[in-house]
Amino acid sequence: MEQPVALTWHTQGQHVLYDEATGGWRMAGSDPLPVRRLAWVSDYGSVPPLSASEGIGNDIDAARNLLIKGDNLFALRALLPSLASKVDFVYIDPPFNTGRNSGPYADNLDHGLWLSMFEERAALAKELIREGGVFAAHLNTVEQAYVRVILDGLFGRENFVSQVSWQRAPDRTLLGQGVAPINDCLEYILIYSKGPLRRDLPPPTKEEPISWKTLKTYSRLIRMSKEREKVAEFTDRQGNEVNIFVHDWFSMEPAGIENLRHAYFHSWRVMKPFFPYLCRLTNQQRESTFQQQLLSQMPDKDRLYSAEFVQARGKHKGLRTRYYLNGQVILFLKDISELRGNRVVRVADMNNLWTDDEVPATGIANEGGVALKRGKKPERLLSRLIRSFSLEGDLVMDFFAGSGTTGAVAHKLNRRWIMVEANEKSFSMCRKRMESVVDGTDPRGISREAGWNGGGGFTIMRVQ
Ligand SMILES: C[S@@+](CC[C@H](N)C(=O)[O-])C[C@H]1O[C@@H](n2cnc3c(N)ncnc32)[C@H](O)[C@@H]1O
Repeated sequence: MEQPVALTWHTQGQHVLYDEATGGWRMAGSDPLPVRRLAWVSDYGSVPPLSASEGIGNDIDAARNLLIKGDNLFALRALLPSLASKVDFVYIDPPFNTGRNSGPYADNLDHGLWLSMFEERAALAKELIREGGVFAAHLNTVEQAYVRVILDGLFGRENFVSQVSWQRAPDRTLLGQGVAPINDCLEYILIYSKGPLRRDLPPPTKEEPISWKTLKTYSRLIRMSKEREKVAEFTDRQGNEVNIFVHDWFSMEPAGIENLRHAYFHSWRVMKPFFPYLCRLTNQQRESTFQQQLLSQMPDKDRLYSAEFVQARGKHKGLRTRYYLNGQVILFLKDISELRGNRVVRVADMNNLWTDDEVPATGIANEGGVALKRGKKPERLLSRLIRSFSLEGDLVMDFFAGSGTTGAVAHKLNRRWIMVEANEKSFSMCRKRMESVVDGTDPRGISREAGWNGGGGFTIMRVQ
């Protein structure tokens, strides 16, 4: 059996608390902490009625979206009796311990104290997570390696799911710690499951923007009749039937490079009706005897042929129809991409390098209508994580809420959510942001692609 490897440090096991008076941190020794309950503050939008026990004993109803004001250590402890093993996905984005203390929140803890702060909260989060549920911690290079060791110990090395590297800043250092010879442009998301990862999550996919260079090659529009006449048939080497048809009529015209450019740089709304017909022509591979065999059955110039055959391997495995004109094959934009909302994107399997192109950190200053300089994460980043590790109706939690990105995205994606924030200013931002999400007056972030128009509600509580 593998022997455990653990990290130890001088303040391990000490409680580290948020100090409301200074907005910084305070050591609180290692004696058991007092129990602090949650008190109801207010409701917004439509929420389940508050049961008597929720007010007094804190028997929190898991169906309730919750925004909690206070130190997350006490909030997590207060939630445990009612929500142990009920949370599907936890994402946290704690202060990275960058040594900066001038920003909107304190970020210069002693290294050991930071680890103590993190470890105790991560252990509580694990208790709240359901079997097979997921924990994701967002960090930068300062504490990432230490947290990896702590989480290996807490969740088990066998339950490590992934470490995502997000290219947060393409061309500059974020750390701001003197002159670094190599710019640091990455942040990391460490992902673990509690026990073996649940099996009901579909394999994560990602949307990659299509480049202008690729898009502009799909510069023709083709329309064709459904009526077609079989002109040939043969059997391929695997013994599958191949049928070749000629179509009664078709038209092919230029899509107009200006139209394409407009669609690419502005909005696809104009091109939407044309999307299924955008195509390009390409020569067949000469070395493919099968393709040559197909073409030999299509002798007429300027006639549209189609072939039905069985593809044995690859992404398009199975019965396929392909179209041919003048010895060339017709490739459709819709076969390599999708129109999602107003964008044309390629849908690919998720990997663990999230580039600045895919998830830009720029242009998010106004997301949610609130400003959290430096700390705010893009809604698109949270959307990727929440879609990958939860289903509609699931419970998502973030106990370092900041400007409330996690709650906003979870709400728009029809998940339930709980957020905790200790800082008064950040808490007010979360509140304002969630109110506009509920009202349907937050048009930014993922609202459009999620088709979000408002609805639902949430309850505000505070740590007493
Ligand atoms: C990096 S920010 C999170 C940003 C967030 N992901 C977003 O997109 O806006 C970290 C937040 O954790 C909060 N925080 C720090 N210590 C906390 C504690 N003990 N309890 C609750 N919140 C805390 C800070 O006030 C800060 O707003």
